[in-house]
Amino acid sequence: MSFWIFVAVAIILYIVYKSLNARTPDGLKDVHTISSFHLFKSAIKKRGGTDQMYLDFQEYFERDGVVKFFIKGKWICLISDPIIVKNMLLRPDTFPKLDLKEYSPIYSRHLGVNVVHSNGDIWKRYRRVCNPAFKTIPVHFFVETGLKLMNVLERIDNKPIEVMDLMQRFTLDALGKTAFGFDFNNLEDPNNPYVTTYNDVYQGLIHNTFVNIFPLERIPFWLNRAFKKIDKLHNLFDEIIKNKHKFIAAGKSNGDLLELMIKACEDQNNANLTDVELRHNLSIFMFAGHETTADALSTLLYLLAVHKDIQQKAREEVIGILGDSSTPSAEQLKSLKYINMLIYENLRMYPSVPIFSLRKLSEDLKCKNNIIPAGTVIGIYPYGIHHSPTLWENPGKFIPERFENKNLENLEFYGFGGGSRMCLGNNFSLLEQRILVCLLLRKYELSLAPNSIHKDGLKIKRMTEPFPIELVFKRRNE
Ligand code: HEM
Repeated sequence: MSFWIFVAVAIILYIVYKSLNARTPDGLKDVHTISSFHLFKSAIKKRGGTDQMYLDFQEYFERDGVVKFFIKGKWICLISDPIIVKNMLLRPDTFPKLDLKEYSPIYSRHLGVNVVHSNGDIWKRYRRVCNPAFKTIPVHFFVETGLKLMNVLERIDNKPIEVMDLMQRFTLDALGKTAFGFDFNNLEDPNNPYVTTYNDVYQGLIHNTFVNIFPLERIPFWLNRAFKKIDKLHNLFDEIIKNKHKFIAAGKSNGDLLELMIKACEDQNNANLTDVELRHNLSIFMFAGHETTADALSTLLYLLAVHKDIQQKAREEVIGILGDSSTPSAEQLKSLKYINMLIYENLRMYPSVPIFSLRKLSEDLKCKNNIIPAGTVIGIYPYGIHHSPTLWENPGKFIPERFENKNLENLEFYGFGGGSRMCLGNNFSLLEQRILVCLLLRKYELSLAPNSIHKDGLKIKRMTEPFPIELVFKRRNE
């Protein structure tokens, strides 16, 4: 074993050495570099979040609209210029998504070719099948899961609880049920084998900063072990798909996304997706919809806990619209204008997708003073746009009213992306967030746990992931 550790360390050191000495392509020489050393330091340091990265390189983001870094054997340009970003999102054929095989064997093994990472005709084919599934979202699953979460809080009995973990558990259960009618039961039993199988892939590999920054995927024995974990999760998804076919054949209906996708395939105008294609697209829904909503809810609850006046205003809206009902109707959910503003302002401050899925330039791109050559890999960086002092007044302040009566298309807001590749699950997530906020605000008063490390502002550890956030949910006297 020690021999293998020695080999692994030697390979890592060699690759780190190569990254540190990576040759810059001619066209990118004048684009400011975030050094590999800075990235490695951020991965292991306590303040290595996207907020800190923006502060460290704000001068270049503002001046040039672009900075670059070297990762997984590639130079990647991060773009924060709002005009270029708008243009990129409106012309997806000129700025196609990067093939996952070119980026990461792990991502490619798990997600295959899917609706987020495909282009052209394949993307259109997937969208035709996915679109109808997102038209009628079975919101009762969000309510049911929200009520389960309330049971967990009841048992905690006014003591502090860590909300990032709680939100992860809530959103996994809610997504499992809505996406394919499967109960992960993460809220009641977080150590069950389904949750462990899922977390081994998502927390252990996909969302693991070390895996994303350090070149572990180039070590064959490490990669083999990673693939085994992914295959185990695939077996679970394949079983779910097989059972869903039987369920539909028996004339039963649950209204989940998988069922609606299988039914959409029966439409003669749509293509029939194979079970492997269905699995890739279900996997991408988990990838795109689980942590994103969990992170958004966690930062939103934090913001409400530290802005008591805003919390109270939001509660008044909820009680005013819902009255005594604890389960909001579709009409009521639409009327929650202030809650909506909170959700958008939270996503402006803490965009849950800090860098969009990578694109590859099919032609040269002029970005202020630089011409970025065709073939370069690009990451759209919404944090830079959402925090630019030239675009937003007081960008570091939580001011939900910014979104009052505003047309989102006229704002420099990219929380859910833009153009034809805009988030397919935005309504899904908005409904999920609105429902949970309603349930919580009616029953509890939220505050930060005493002596919280976040008392002077949210401390972000990596990318958009904050340090654990402990909140107290104090039962209100209704
Ligand atoms: C707070 C929650 C969410 C945020 C912030 C978010 C954000 C985004 C963003 C920024 C994009 C565009 C990425 C790009 O252009 O590269 C996107 C695309 C997408 N999202 Fe979401 N998302 C959320 C929740 C969800 C959920 C719940 C689902 C599904 C269950 C979902 C499914 C998708 C899909 C399928 C796409 C790709 C659309 C396409 O390329 O045609 N998202 N999302």
